[in-house]
Amino acid sequence: MNRRTLIKWFSRAIGWTCACIVAIPGIRFITEPLRRRSSGGGITQRVVQLANLRVGEPVQTTITGSRQDAWVRYDQETIGRVYLVRETDDTVPPEQSKVKAFTAVCPHLGCAVQFDAGAKTFNCPCHKAFFELSGNPVSDSELGYRNPTPRGMDSLECQVVQEGGTGEWWVEVTYEKFEYGLTTKTPRA
Ligand code: FES
Repeated sequence: MNRRTLIKWFSRAIGWTCACIVAIPGIRFITEPLRRRSSGGGITQRVVQLANLRVGEPVQTTITGSRQDAWVRYDQETIGRVYLVRETDDTVPPEQSKVKAFTAVCPHLGCAVQFDAGAKTFNCPCHKAFFELSGNPVSDSELGYRNPTPRGMDSLECQVVQEGGTGEWWVEVTYEKFEYGLTTKTPRA
């Protein structure tokens, strides 16, 4: 290898090294939001005092938290809505109380589910899916047409906890998002 070829290869090597030094942090910066988004996981919040829930009267509450779009982080925004359904009354000690939580996202195609206090059913106005208080789909025979939802409302982890300082009993929910349009409840990545 003559001297000229050696210098040429040496220059190329320096050029590629410089390109890598510039490109790698750039690629990491561009893909950072995508890598953060795939981390997943639920968010746990105390949402409503147990004393404010009545049996058979679902209450809708919001989950707040930070939201991340492609490159911007928004703090303290509403990131989800949840229905709480109390199943046991005040004759049951708070620590044994049963409360169910459902996400208000329709499992059909993701519209917002509403509660009809008169009919005591949840319904989705987009394509007329109906759900019972238990979260199960109302049967096709009861509806008189095919209920479009592929599954019942998505339940969330929920527990009744006592606040140390005040002694008040609160309902704590772990909020997650699920894929819609599927027959099985599948957490969104
Ligand atoms: S999105 Fe709810 S019924 Fe279609």
